[in-house]
Amino acid sequence: MTDRRPLRLAERSARPEVEFTFDGQTVRGRAGDTVAMALWASGCRVLRHSSKEGAPRGVLCNMGICYECLVRIEGASVRACLQPIAPGLVVESGGRP
Ligand code: FES
Repeated sequence: MTDRRPLRLAERSARPEVEFTFDGQTVRGRAGDTVAMALWASGCRVLRHSSKEGAPRGVLCNMGICYECLVRIEGASVRACLQPIAPGLVVESGGRP
């Protein structure tokens, strides 16, 4: 089996850059990235904290099943792993189930 990772990284790097904000900080992703993957690629691992214990939460399944990656966009809680980035998108941590 051939490892396609280097090719995928090269394909991602060829896509245009897209800027959005996360908790007021500018983040640069690539067109076609989800919010989760753009944040992951920029080094951000914590997207919210659990309501009971305040434990950090981030990307777990990366396919929309676990709801661990909830963030807030325009006041609504959305799964970061399913939300594509867009220029000027305003994303905040702390989405609630
Ligand atoms: S990481 Fe599981 S729903 Fe997003």
